[in-house]
Amino acid sequence: MTERLVVFTPSGRRGSFADGTTVLEAARRLGVDIDSVCGGRGICGRCQVEVSEGEHAKHGITSDATHLSPVGEVERSYARERPLAGGRRLGCTARIAGDVVIDVPPESQVYRQVVRKEADAHPIEIDPVVRLYYVEVAEPDLAVGTSDLTRLREALEREWGLTRLAFDPHVVRALQRALRARGPEPRSSGAWSVTVAVHDGGAVTAIWPGFHDAAFGIAFDIGSTTVAGHLCDLRTGDVLSSAGEMNPQIRFGEDLMSRVSYVMMNPGSEKELTKVVRGCLAKLTAELARDAAVDRDDVLEITLVGNPIMHHLLLGIDPTELGGAPFALAVDEALRMRATDLGLPVNAGARAYVLPCIAGHVGADTAGVILSEGPHLADEVTLIVDVGTNAEIVLGNRRRLLAASSPTGPAFEGAQISCGQRAAPGAIERVRIDPDTLEPRVRVIGCDAWSDEPGFAGARVTGVCGSGIIEAIAELHLAGILTTDGTIDGRLAERTPRLVANERTFSYVLWAGEPELTITQNDVRQIQLAKGALYAGCRLLMDRYGIEQVDRIRLAGAFGAHIDPVRALVLGLVPDCDPAHVTSAGNAAGTGARIALLDRKARAEIEDAVRRVEKVETAVEPRFQEHFVGAMAIPHDSDPYERLSS
Ligand code: FES
Repeated sequence: MTERLVVFTPSGRRGSFADGTTVLEAARRLGVDIDSVCGGRGICGRCQVEVSEGEHAKHGITSDATHLSPVGEVERSYARERPLAGGRRLGCTARIAGDVVIDVPPESQVYRQVVRKEADAHPIEIDPVVRLYYVEVAEPDLAVGTSDLTRLREALEREWGLTRLAFDPHVVRALQRALRARGPEPRSSGAWSVTVAVHDGGAVTAIWPGFHDAAFGIAFDIGSTTVAGHLCDLRTGDVLSSAGEMNPQIRFGEDLMSRVSYVMMNPGSEKELTKVVRGCLAKLTAELARDAAVDRDDVLEITLVGNPIMHHLLLGIDPTELGGAPFALAVDEALRMRATDLGLPVNAGARAYVLPCIAGHVGADTAGVILSEGPHLADEVTLIVDVGTNAEIVLGNRRRLLAASSPTGPAFEGAQISCGQRAAPGAIERVRIDPDTLEPRVRVIGCDAWSDEPGFAGARVTGVCGSGIIEAIAELHLAGILTTDGTIDGRLAERTPRLVANERTFSYVLWAGEPELTITQNDVRQIQLAKGALYAGCRLLMDRYGIEQVDRIRLAGAFGAHIDPVRALVLGLVPDCDPAHVTSAGNAAGTGARIALLDRKARAEIEDAVRRVEKVETAVEPRFQEHFVGAMAIPHDSDPYERLSS
């Protein structure tokens, strides 16, 4: 039989094959990953390839579309329902008929990658923990007498090499009916064929009659203020819908510690907090599926991240131990369970994966941040700061990783600030103060114009959010209104009516409208305390690591997304670093949950990275107090920002 040279791109793998070998078979023999759900029956369309036509001097062949067999009936029938893009062929039906170079497009590759929006981010490899397999099962035979389950096992082994599978009880219950039903048109191949979902290569978790080609997952990020979810196509990695809700636990306490106090004062009430957060996840699940026009029964995988208290309450664990030293977690390892155990309205066999926690104040959300940012994979030393009620800080690189939590309090979220509010439409988020006139310009969430621009007219101003207060105080300092020790300098009251005296201190009127918004001396003190704690936490980790300067700083979370790096440095929020290397990491915790959803290998990776993290407990470190006191100054008394002030 004539042998033909076949080259696959982009892998470059090549080999000789007899005329008539299918492209899919040739690819498999060379270890080229071409996707397939239907096992080469011309049903799923996952195996599409393209002939790369022309002279391929590098490979020493001239490749031509006619070097594959002509389009046959199976391919024609597939293309009648879903036309193939120009030149595309089904790899499972197209046969080798001459020397040929075959291109496997990204969407036909098993291990494809999705590029992330965030700058400098590694692409996510799509290798989900759950996969679909279509099989044709032998009909029952009186002479043989094997059960439906045995014949399904045989088919899965014969066609896909899957052995020693465990079957979820609900799959066993559904098996009889699924095998005897016809699958949905138009791609049904009649009774005695089913599609199964196999989780982690070992458990059959769902079953559908006939051919089924839909598998979705949801990545949840449970914050103390907001709960957010992203519904993803497990095949492509695409985010099909996103939704967020206020965490309904807020009615038990605005911040984390007040929720723990609520549980302490009302024994047994953790059950109620668990119930409301699970209810919120269930509501979001329904909303996400509806928005993406996805059947909830096709949601097969869930991942979750959250801080330690959210993590414990989600799991139904009393968080009281986390309310005081030694802040012992009930469990820190990653957890795997059924999604229905968390009350989620998805497929009965869907699994949930909860990322590992790191320490008493450093939770699965920080594990998500590490997974997203990848400091454990880099040579450069990265400082990652995730600011919320507490600040979670991670420092290090591939050699060593340290983590700590610093008690910043809620000031960075706008709480305990006289004019503070949550980041929501109407909140001042950007501030500039003219150093000559001492007049401010502001921008509010929900309006793209500055207050001195025509587009601002009619914008509602309601308060100042965390990033707004940081900018306001940094700008007051840059304008000379705020001294290095954090005093609002009343002597400048002669130059501007915006400085008003209240007893022995002064306030600055940031917004003279209705409501009037002022930055008081006490507001400045609150931010000094918060930024002192944050800076001290960062320095403590740097001391432990033995470095004076980090290579780059990433500001994670909603706060990090809005804060201006230069102003963060002016204020001394984070240690000295080239401003060009201080950037926002976006919602890194949520991205980490999405990576764990789409790439099974990421789970082992983060579990290993978390095991290696050195935990630093700021509360018992004497150096923390020293750094804290020094960091109360603006920017602080240890490393003034020559680069910025020059
Ligand atoms: Fe399913 Fe080719 S492998 S159509």
